Amino acid sequence: MMTLALAKGRLLPTAIRRLRRAGFELEEPNNRSLVAYDKSKKLKAIFIKDQDVPLYVEYGIADVGICGKDNIWENGADVAELLDLRFGTCRMAVAGKQSPQAYQAAQFLKVGTKYPKIATDFFTQKGLPIELIKLAGSVELGAVLGLADVIVDIVKTGQTLAENNLHILEEIAPISARLIVNRASFALKRNEIELLCRSLKNDSRNES
Ligand code: PRP
Repeated sequence: MMTLALAKGRLLPTAIRRLRRAGFELEEPNNRSLVAYDKSKKLKAIFIKDQDVPLYVEYGIADVGICGKDNIWENGADVAELLDLRFGTCRMAVAGKQSPQAYQAAQFLKVGTKYPKIATDFFTQKGLPIELIKLAGSVELGAVLGLADVIVDIVKTGQTLAENNLHILEEIAPISARLIVNRASFALKRNEIELLCRSLKNDSRNES
């Protein structure tokens, strides 16, 4: 049996649909259940917070996991990425209320974000010194109220930015759901994992 860690957030309904189409008859969990088995008992699913999925996979509690690229990147976990599942698509971006010219000319920025590693990696690579302000949510408010000069956050429809008179200043990377694997599990359960990967890959239905 394979253990699969699934992010409990907004990716879950699509992940479950994709797994069902791949032949794993899983039900969406009710609020409190944290573990479920597919009908054939080939798959044990554990439902955890998005940010924790890479860790459960890295430590081998789960053989495989489905979560957003943002959390894989932010976590820095030592896992292998097997497949871009092409749903949960959005962008990681720098946004703010300042003009693109002012942003380009900045020598130093206060950066508000839920993603300190991604923000640090990005601005380090640009060679721009920053002060990092770690926020837990409603990140846009940080830029609106002047706590931060810019924010680093995911942008899906762009509505939250627009409603707060903010705009994208620079795109960092496209983000989507990924299938990840524990490196030892991939050696030990290669056939099962490759079958799961192939079945998920062959799904041509387009779901954003
Ligand atoms: C995410 C993100 C943005 C928003 C972007 O927030 O942090 O705030 O979605 O989506 P949009 O481009 O479609 O408007 P989330 O809903 O996860 O809430 P949070 O900020 O409280 O974490």
